Amino acid sequence: MTTLSLIGIGTGNPDHLTLQAIREINAADLVLIPRKGEGKADLAELRRAILREVLTNPATLVAEFDLPVRDEAVADYRERVDGWHDAIAGVWEAAMGSPRPARVALLVWGDPSLYDSTLRIAARLSPAPDLRVIPGITSLQALTAAHAIPLNTIGGPVTITTGRQLRDHGWPEGAETLAVMLDAGGAFMAIPSEGVTIWWGAYVGMAEEIVLAGPLAEVSERILATRAEARARHGWIMDIYLLRRM
Ligand SMILES: C[S@@+](CC[C@H](N)C(=O)[O-])C[C@H]1O[C@@H](n2cnc3c(N)ncnc32)[C@H](O)[C@@H]1O
Repeated sequence: MTTLSLIGIGTGNPDHLTLQAIREINAADLVLIPRKGEGKADLAELRRAILREVLTNPATLVAEFDLPVRDEAVADYRERVDGWHDAIAGVWEAAMGSPRPARVALLVWGDPSLYDSTLRIAARLSPAPDLRVIPGITSLQALTAAHAIPLNTIGGPVTITTGRQLRDHGWPEGAETLAVMLDAGGAFMAIPSEGVTIWWGAYVGMAEEIVLAGPLAEVSERILATRAEARARHGWIMDIYLLRRM
């Protein structure tokens, strides 16, 4: 039986790795690194850099594989994603080889529980491996740390959502603090800005980190301009923000 360890590696800072993550990497026979294509080369390189720093077991092999691209011709979103996850599971199978090694590890950005499909893809493997999850620092934690703020108000609720949800459905009923991820850019422009404060961060936890905060009405344009400039300079961007309406 193969054990597949999904190891949360934090959000791009090798110092985010826990001692548990480092031990798990070194216990693996094989570590798989996904390559996401030119535009996101930094993320594969970051995984390589992490391994150069923490992998000390000479018996551990490292294999890279190309992530399949989503078939945008499929109109239905769920069908498109399901087909893509099937294809990724197939590529994992091939990268693991046959017979599968006893211990395989995948380095997962942030933590596998938060807007990440690694667990759903792992569930497609046949035969099913033994799954182990090693928690990692999420981009949400890296954001609140960068701004030195608590996530919630005293006893207050927090809603975690996506840029698309915010753009399509507006401010969720009853929400006080919103954490917005996976925003293709500026979904906060779609809501009334009055009384809303934003804490925004790009590349949080990384050397390139940029953070901005303030009343949404005052800083939204600056965030948009900063985001566009950073994206052009690096060739890619990941950003996350908290919105709080009091
Ligand atoms: C596919 S999700 C993965 C989230 C990850 N599993 C986590 O625990 O943070 C990608 C989204 O996470 C956020 N994200 C991940 N890393 C980030 C970083 N270093 N800086 C800012 N946002 C980040 C962005 O909202 C991005 O669109």
